[in-house]
Amino acid sequence: MKAKTLEQALADDIEEVLLNSEDIKCRVAELGRQISEDYKGKDLVLVGILRGAFVFLADLIREMSISAETDFIAISSYGSSSTTSGVVRILKDLDEDIEGRHVLIIEDILDTGLTLNYLLKNLSSRRPESLEICSFIVKEGKQSVKINLKYLGYTVPNRFVVGYGLDYAQRYRNLPFIGTLKPHVYEEDET
Ligand code: IMP
Repeated sequence: MKAKTLEQALADDIEEVLLNSEDIKCRVAELGRQISEDYKGKDLVLVGILRGAFVFLADLIREMSISAETDFIAISSYGSSSTTSGVVRILKDLDEDIEGRHVLIIEDILDTGLTLNYLLKNLSSRRPESLEICSFIVKEGKQSVKINLKYLGYTVPNRFVVGYGLDYAQRYRNLPFIGTLKPHVYEEDET
């Protein structure tokens, strides 16, 4: 597959921009301020879920006025298609010990909730002082398990979205906005 420039991807493949980069920047700044207030004076570890959350986490941490450690965990949930596999497993574990520390999970998107449900159980067994979630996006009406979010960026309609770290078949992560794909993108992959 030949890599496309941002302009080409936008012109050829994006159906609709749901969240533009200016709005995202403002919202992430608000979240950064709120998290800084709430965790002031606390030993905070941000746990980014790879791969999708790396863009959000990188922007968020630079909007925070308190210091926080960063760690990453890689979880498998989707293959290269746009439907959930239902199988959750750890591909890369945390490097740090989180026992007795305040942990804030940074997630790109909450869809069925299976990934976070699994992760909450797994990480809480390591006895952190607190364990909360900050998700950039929640998909409306899709959750099969109830997940409580301490922080949320946006709610979007139940459609497959790409950009700002989110991919389709490992592409489009670098788009600075959140958008939906034209049907031909999926159709080409099926042929
Ligand atoms: P869940 O376990 O169904 O909540 O899925 C969460 C994970 O699936 C996210 O961390 C994403 O990696 C991926 N995912 C879910 N919906 C989308 C989407 O619309 N675009 C891209 N990735 C998605």
